[in-house]
Amino acid sequence: MSTADRGELALLVPGGRGQLGRELQRRAKGVAGLVHAPGSAELDIRDAQDVSDEVDSFAEAARDNNLRPVVLNAAAHTAVDAAEGEPELAAAINVDGAAALARACARRRVPLVHLSTDYVFDGTATVPYEPTDPTGPRAVYGRTKLAGEQEVLAAAERAWVVRTAWVYGAGGANFVKTMVRLAGERDTVTVVDDQIGAPTWTGDLADGLLELAGLLAARRDPAQRVLHCTNGGRASWFEFARAVFAEIGADPERVLPCTTADFPRPAPRPGYSVLSPRAWAEAGLSPLRDWRSSLADAFVQDGPALRGEA
Ligand SMILES: NC(=O)c1ccc[n+]([C@@H]2O[C@H](COP(=O)([O-])OP(=O)(O)OC[C@H]3O[C@@H](n4cnc5c(N)ncnc54)[C@H](OP(=O)(O)O)[C@@H]3O)[C@@H](O)[C@H]2O)c1
Repeated sequence: MSTADRGELALLVPGGRGQLGRELQRRAKGVAGLVHAPGSAELDIRDAQDVSDEVDSFAEAARDNNLRPVVLNAAAHTAVDAAEGEPELAAAINVDGAAALARACARRRVPLVHLSTDYVFDGTATVPYEPTDPTGPRAVYGRTKLAGEQEVLAAAERAWVVRTAWVYGAGGANFVKTMVRLAGERDTVTVVDDQIGAPTWTGDLADGLLELAGLLAARRDPAQRVLHCTNGGRASWFEFARAVFAEIGADPERVLPCTTADFPRPAPRPGYSVLSPRAWAEAGLSPLRDWRSSLADAFVQDGPALRGEA
């Protein structure tokens, strides 16, 4: 597969202080000629004028340095339960902010990769979701993310939506860190066993997104504009928790199963949200490895951060 030499890439990563944004920045630094990853204090995507100015100056910096610009949008309102109580804020970021970014990218002819989520699905499937399958978000977060996808695709011809799921990594709060902490605090931990998905490490996801950015920079555009990118395989949260316990040398039997009904949350979650990698592979992109292999590697590479020691 031919991609642009990644050294020719210039990357703008809104949401650069988030879990994925940090990892993208970390991995891109070694391979891209220019990386700018502003946090929300530096670039608030709700401010359309600031977004436009930021994309302008990024595109000009890329041009001046003879680099090929790509925007990877990692900014989002991701607090799934909090979104139920603040739908306007979630929409301002996930819909209007995403749309402003797409319009600015379209105006400067800069390709955009916009991150989205498995929560756009209702979770009633029993086989992995294809990007073309009907959506049916069950909560504010998923509804705003879906509306954001639609705005982005309508606003920019060279925009791609990448849905991912169950993300964990060194930066930010996540399920793995929570399980490590609870393993140290409690004798037993009860975790839901009836929600199925694919745990996805930011390290592998960032590498996949950088591969996609390389394709776009080389104008080898994927024909499908909605893609799915998660680690391979499937697990329940309970199985995932047991695997985390095993990684840190804790007894997995200390993790006990329960049902979603035992743990009501403000926002309903999809019961099944495994995402098919078929379109990703058809675009010539490398499917991510199985989640268990990633989890082991995550503890090798990001152990101190995942264990709360860094
Ligand atoms: N985490 C998951 O399990 C998961 C699953 C599926 C899909 N995704 C998607 O993956 C992407 C990255 O998620 P993540 O896990 O990295 O989430 P995250 O850690 O919450 O990062 C999101 C970032 O967006 C920033 N942000 C919020 N409002 C903003 C605004 N108005 N302007 C600019 N930046 C703003 C936040 O900055 P502040 O903290 O400074 O506000 C935060 O750093 C999102 O599109 C998310 O929907 C995540």
